[in-house]
Amino acid sequence: MDNQNLINMARKYGTPLFTYDYETILARIEELKTQIGQYENCEFLYAAKANHNPHIVKIMVENGFGVDAVSINEAKVGLLVGCPLEKVMYTENNISDAEMDEAHELGILVNFNSIKRLHKFGQKYPGSKICVRFNPNVGAASHSTNITGGPNSKFGIAYQYVEDVKKIAEQYDLKIVGIHQHIGSGWLTLEEPQLALDVILDIARQIPGLEFVDFGGGFGVPYKPEQSRLDLQTLGAKFKEKMDAFNLEYYGNTEQKIKLRFEPGRYAICEAGKLITEVTNTKTTPEGKTYVGTNTGMNHLIRPALYGSYHGITNLSNPEGPLKTYDIVGNICESADYFAKDRELPETTPGDLLSINNAGAYGTAMSSLYHLRSIPTEVLIYKDGTDKLIKPAQSFEEIVSVYNYK
Ligand code: LLP
Repeated sequence: MDNQNLINMARKYGTPLFTYDYETILARIEELKTQIGQYENCEFLYAAKANHNPHIVKIMVENGFGVDAVSINEAKVGLLVGCPLEKVMYTENNISDAEMDEAHELGILVNFNSIKRLHKFGQKYPGSKICVRFNPNVGAASHSTNITGGPNSKFGIAYQYVEDVKKIAEQYDLKIVGIHQHIGSGWLTLEEPQLALDVILDIARQIPGLEFVDFGGGFGVPYKPEQSRLDLQTLGAKFKEKMDAFNLEYYGNTEQKIKLRFEPGRYAICEAGKLITEVTNTKTTPEGKTYVGTNTGMNHLIRPALYGSYHGITNLSNPEGPLKTYDIVGNICESADYFAKDRELPETTPGDLLSINNAGAYGTAMSSLYHLRSIPTEVLIYKDGTDKLIKPAQSFEEIVSVYNYK
């Protein structure tokens, strides 16, 4: 997608605007399937938390992915776009009894995060199939806030409690069909994921009759120019080696191959997405800092404010201008409302269009109505330059209608 194409979209739909490049989504799906999926019995579940727009989820499902949901609503989106029930999994985290009941009524496999919840489920629904999330005591992520494994983790059942889990399953005649882990999000390393797979396979060896082992997600993408791509090819080959050795031990033959599940969110959608915004103002302080103000903010892309995340930014209107140093900020009344600090950008003036890159994952999904500003329009752009509106920004009337105020 070239700059002119994005400028045309901004003219057509207005800004701020989330754009998604269809070809990039397909390319990332294919990379996952062919490089990570070298082992013969892999299954991919798209982590809908990264971007829950049903049109996006549908692309994943059309390309053979299932859906990894972290709420009943995400699971329902999966079903809505035609994902087969058996390829939807609900990874619970401190769910309520009502949510547990609804998941059971829908017939979705629940991935349990805690011993107490497992007891409750067993008491109410004995004889059911379950998946169990273990904490492999390994963690890795792009930011410390995104680590979800390791000592004292909020997530998963400690790997030391395998026997307790087996006892509970026996007590209520629960069938453990899968075991799961997720060490964190956005890692670009090769070591921790291999270690984590070793641990989960160690746990699997202790549980007979499993249908699948779920590695989780977390495959990172480069955000900073100096970061290189995750070596999916090498990682996929290592995974295959480990799975082949595991199967031989688990089944005692080379024919049977346990299913290996993955739950990528970010990798499939992040780089396809851009947040297009218009520069509304610039301002230089007496101390010499120049702010570039935009018509979007932390309400639409909270990652820099929340995690200090880096996002590449392109000046679409003046890509060749002389480089200047700016703080690029939003229109929200919070000092945390920024996209980049001390960033070199071609000279930028009000009216310029900027593209905030790598905004496809955890962008609109984490956006809010703070300041009562609409969540931006979303548009899917195809290779030939045509586009499809996949979510309009809400009007004032739509936003206030939920309050039922007359
Ligand atoms: N599976 C489970 C159980 C997860 O908790 C997550 C992410 C994923 C899969 C997908 O991870 P991915 O492949 O997208 O890295 N808001 C943060 C990311 C939080 C991820 C939470 N869990 C961010 O913007 O970086």
